[in-house]
Amino acid sequence: LASPGPRNPRLKFDGIEVGTSDRVEIPRGYEQRVVVRWGDPVVPGAPKFDINRQTAEAQEKQFGYNCDYVAFQPLGRDRGLLWVNHEYTNENLMFRGYTDGAEADLEHIRIAMAAHGGSVVEIRRVGRTGGWRLADGGRHFNRRITATTPMKLTGPAAGSELLRTEADPEGTRVLGMLNNCAGGMTPWGTILTCEENFNQYFVGGEGAPEEKKAALRRYGIATSGDTRAGNRRFDRVDERFDLSRHPNEANRFGYVVEIDPFDPDSTPRKRTMLGRFKHEGATTRLTRDGRVAVYMGDDERFDYIYKFVSAGRYRKGSRRANSSLLDTGTLYVARLSGDSPAEELDGSGALPADGAFDGRGEWVALCTDKKSFVEGFTVAEVLVHTRLAADAAGATKMDRPEDIEASPATGKVYCALTNNSAREPGQADEPNPRGPNRFGHILELSEQGNDAGATRFRWDVPIVCGDPEDPSTYFAGYDKSKVVAISSPDNLTFDEQGNLWISTDGQPGTIGVNDALFAVPVEGRYKGELKAFASVPVGAECCGPFITEDQKTVFIAPQHPGEDGTFDEPQSTWPDGDFPRPSVVSIWNSKGHDIGR
Ligand code: FEO
Ligand code: CA
Ligand code: CA
Ligand code: CA
Repeated sequence: LASPGPRNPRLKFDGIEVGTSDRVEIPRGYEQRVVVRWGDPVVPGAPKFDINRQTAEAQEKQFGYNCDYVAFQPLGRDRGLLWVNHEYTNENLMFRGYTDGAEADLEHIRIAMAAHGGSVVEIRRVGRTGGWRLADGGRHFNRRITATTPMKLTGPAAGSELLRTEADPEGTRVLGMLNNCAGGMTPWGTILTCEENFNQYFVGGEGAPEEKKAALRRYGIATSGDTRAGNRRFDRVDERFDLSRHPNEANRFGYVVEIDPFDPDSTPRKRTMLGRFKHEGATTRLTRDGRVAVYMGDDERFDYIYKFVSAGRYRKGSRRANSSLLDTGTLYVARLSGDSPAEELDGSGALPADGAFDGRGEWVALCTDKKSFVEGFTVAEVLVHTRLAADAAGATKMDRPEDIEASPATGKVYCALTNNSAREPGQADEPNPRGPNRFGHILELSEQGNDAGATRFRWDVPIVCGDPEDPSTYFAGYDKSKVVAISSPDNLTFDEQGNLWISTDGQPGTIGVNDALFAVPVEGRYKGELKAFASVPVGAECCGPFITEDQKTVFIAPQHPGEDGTFDEPQSTWPDGDFPRPSVVSIWNSKGHDIGR
């Protein structure tokens, strides 16, 4: 473990009141700076951004749209590499007069494809602060990954029948990654970036072969009706997005992608061993015997939490040995059972008689790289149709598993269950105790022996989100008059003291205020004392967050500011007062204190 046992930290910042302003709001005593914005030139030869003269060629060299996961790797004290996911595009805000994909100018579709993916950018510290800016001339590492970047499929499903297409008869090469939401970093310094709602990029499911339709539907791809309506229509510039012509193309998306940010010429790897689903994030921990565990959520109503454990051990300093660790091992899915009688769970969120939503769980093995444990599924089928394999294995249906993070202080693992308005009261169970679940909750897993390689764990729900005046909420038993409302927890991170930082996606539609970044101790006397640290502009969700190793900076990424507006009638003008630009912001303490201290 990175640092010694649980402490009793109290967060020292003055929590902000979260409202509806079109700014990034931060606590007293803190400062902020926009680090990089959509369109900023990042790779050599990139032109200056001009929203009225966009081209795909320019966008391929400029910072992409909708920043989600943010990671930072220091290069000495005052320089570092920032990795940022570009999850998706809001064409209504990017292009004047945009109506839909069917009518869209083909160049606008190409620009949108180039604005997806991710960016590696070198940044440097401003003075002695926790503020950062793009490094001038720091173009050695800078890189854009887009919806057309060549990638390799690796692991046991690579080359399988399910992944072969006309353009790639070997089933090992794929162009681009789509809808990369959250992610993680490996101990060997690579980035794991996760393809989430890849289903939305495909059309023509109605024309796919009948025998493939059930699997397409399980992944949210329509197989009847007008599958083109409301779609971005990437198929208009590249026919591989039309499943009536290339039905396996969708099987080549929905993976965890590993990228080496230090080598701009490296080929990103889609790691099939980690399964295919709407991957939210991927958090690594080492097992007691030095193997690598990766915790992953599938962000869909009633979908699952997964864990991968490598066969091989992590070898410090050996990038080569570590570069294939994620290709062999075991993929598990979580099954949770509560310890309170079912009749004490009525979906209202009222605590059962034992005073806790808690119980035991097991990691059910779906397959190794050589052997399937799910009847009727080959290894390749488990890894490509992972949701169907997990259905067959009787996994526990969760309320949209988003990000998962492990506490550096205790090793306990936390998952954000963002919400599930479709859970009926009668479907409430102890790990998902409200039906409907409008505001989400946090799940805590304690692996047996605190070993990430364990197959058994205990679990507990420390926080049930919402307005603290709502009796269905719970803040680890803390005095609810002293905590703040939170809804729709999404991305998570930890500070080195072991406080959990939670960013949200969905507060405007549920509690009527902007999305925000919160922090809460999860151990000790102040456990449950939730405070708001920052809020993002109108219409944005709060992505990132990432706290640098020196604890002096937190990066956040306001994603899709003003998302319900249009180019001509923007609902947000953040950050520059003209049109909205998804961006990354650094926040630091004016006196140089650690974040939150
Ligand atoms: Fe892209 Fe599950 O949030
Ligand atoms: Ca209980
Ligand atoms: Ca997310
Ligand atoms: Ca979300």
